[in-house]
Amino acid sequence: MALAALEALPRDGLLAVEAPLDGAPESLILHRAADGGVRAWLNVCPHAGRRLDYAPGMFLRSKAGELVCAVHGASFALDDGRCVAGPCRGESLRAVAVHCADGRVWLGAAPAAQ
Ligand code: FES
Repeated sequence: MALAALEALPRDGLLAVEAPLDGAPESLILHRAADGGVRAWLNVCPHAGRRLDYAPGMFLRSKAGELVCAVHGASFALDDGRCVAGPCRGESLRAVAVHCADGRVWLGAAPAAQ
């Protein structure tokens, strides 16, 4: 399933998308790294289980570029989703496998090379 067009996700940008996971609709956070790679996490904070955005798709960033949960301010590194400051320090966002192909971000790991 295609989640987004790559052009909708600038480098170091964040995007919220909806996708079915285990049969239930979930909000996902997509992040496009400076090297062009895309990572995804569930839009659920490990602290209290709330969404991280303050309005749908609107995310706070720290001066250092970390993703900041809008509820109680936990900060997450965008290279691995680990909480580096705040009430759930040491925990991590739940990663979701995605891959890029044909100018889009797709749900699931990249198919194995043949
Ligand atoms: S719910 Fe995110 S810091 Fe509390």
